[in-house]
Amino acid sequence: MNMDIVTSVTALRERLQGEPNNVFVPTMGNLHEGHIDLIRIAKPKAACTVVSIFVNRLQFGPREDFERYPRTFENDCDKLRGAGVNVVFAPDEKEIYPEPQTYVVEPSDLQHILDGAFRPGHFRGVATVVLKLFNMVMPHAAIFGKKDYQQYLVLRDMVRQLALPVEIIPADTVRAADGLALSSRNGYLSPAERAEAPRLYALLRDARERIARGERNFQRIELETMAQLSQHGWNPQYVAVRRRADLQTPAAEERGLVVLAAAYLGKTRLIDNIEVTL
Ligand code: PAF
Repeated sequence: MNMDIVTSVTALRERLQGEPNNVFVPTMGNLHEGHIDLIRIAKPKAACTVVSIFVNRLQFGPREDFERYPRTFENDCDKLRGAGVNVVFAPDEKEIYPEPQTYVVEPSDLQHILDGAFRPGHFRGVATVVLKLFNMVMPHAAIFGKKDYQQYLVLRDMVRQLALPVEIIPADTVRAADGLALSSRNGYLSPAERAEAPRLYALLRDARERIARGERNFQRIELETMAQLSQHGWNPQYVAVRRRADLQTPAAEERGLVVLAAAYLGKTRLIDNIEVTL
């Protein structure tokens, strides 16, 4: 099957002119099985599947890994071809940001909690680039992985509040056999760190067990899970039991929960979460 690779907005619009019904998977490249799964979900939803590859400077903090974020374009294209993608949009920075981006999407206060508290400006950068990409691709649906649970909610709310004609479809996290959530950043881990990394999900599963068994002192679960991470050499930023609908602190009788965590293992920041339905 033919896969078209376009790098300019003009070429993208020309290519998509005859495709009024396309489904979109935005990525930053360095693709893994988790991304391929998003494409598997996308493909039956429209005749045309569009994937973007763009490492978005706007969503990285000044001391984050923008410069060293892996750029693996040829490899990514081979994987996308194999997955049956129709159009790859791979713009450079000038194409997306031809001038300083002074108009931005300012998400709700959701942008300031959890990941947002440790990565100021991150969700503003994500929402801004995703809105721009939506305006360029004009998809009727877009797929986002729930590993980035907070990102999924920010984008779901953006689409709702700005009345964008795009359906946001969440996708379950894809994991390695030992439970580690697939992430482009896993490649930063040393062999010893990679062996330790599944502990994050194992501890989230333990937290889910405790809640399912009836524990309602969520703060205690959070603190004990953080302590366990620290004991094993991690540097946890947060472990939080939240209401799944909006990531606010849940009441004791809340039935739809999610436990989210972010922690450094060496120099690598890993995030993960687990949903709990009571
Ligand atoms: O999840 C990602 O890879 C990025 O945040 C996204 C949605 C492609 C925006 O740059």
